[in-house]
Amino acid sequence: MELRLQKFLAESGIASRRKAEQFIVMGKVEVNGKVVTELGTKIDTEKDTVLYENKKVVLKQKLIYIMLHKPEGYVTTVKDQFQRATVIDLLKGVTERVYPVGRLDYDTSGLLLLTNDGDLTYRLTHPKHNIEKTYEAKLFGTPSEQDIIQFRRGVSIDGKKTEPAKLEILQKGEKYSIVHIVIQEGRNRQVRKMCDAIKHPVSQLKRIGTGKLFLNDLEKGKYRYLTEKEIQYLKNL
Ligand code: URA
Repeated sequence: MELRLQKFLAESGIASRRKAEQFIVMGKVEVNGKVVTELGTKIDTEKDTVLYENKKVVLKQKLIYIMLHKPEGYVTTVKDQFQRATVIDLLKGVTERVYPVGRLDYDTSGLLLLTNDGDLTYRLTHPKHNIEKTYEAKLFGTPSEQDIIQFRRGVSIDGKKTEPAKLEILQKGEKYSIVHIVIQEGRNRQVRKMCDAIKHPVSQLKRIGTGKLFLNDLEKGKYRYLTEKEIQYLKNL
């Protein structure tokens, strides 16, 4: 990233931008071994080495936490090898480099968290945490009482039984039903495979909640920053 030197110093927590300008003019700042006194000098934050009073200056990243309503047709990666649209393409106006917390399939929509807080990402995606994820799904047919019990007991997918899951029927139609599914793990295409196992395949899938955080009325394709309270909640999980 290219930044003006005074902004770089300010964002590194050295001083306010005004003060940083004074430091530059006073000759206290070196870029790649040379004193720079010209304001507005652009530096490359990845390649250039900046010293202030002979100490290396590193950019202090502001930690940000985002909830995105991912539409179908986007990959949950930062860069796709097939040049498909990625969830990062939807974060217009976000200048920080953020990463998805876990993933949603290309054809799944719904709640996706993104952050540059590596510690939190690690903790939230670690299998031992088992944070509940809630999905709304349109299924072919209507699951029976036995299927609901099966979900509670665990369904065998890829040769391994799932942790207890909840299946609740919200709406029954002739061809389809609408259900809520709550799972704790995050195995590959888990909900789709579980529904295949009870012979009610998924037609549409949307994640509506992660733990106590829900999409509510966040529009598809839009994002919002988490509130301080929501961030604390995730950190305390
Ligand atoms: N389960 C799935 O099958 N797909 C997802 O994207 C998430 C959970």
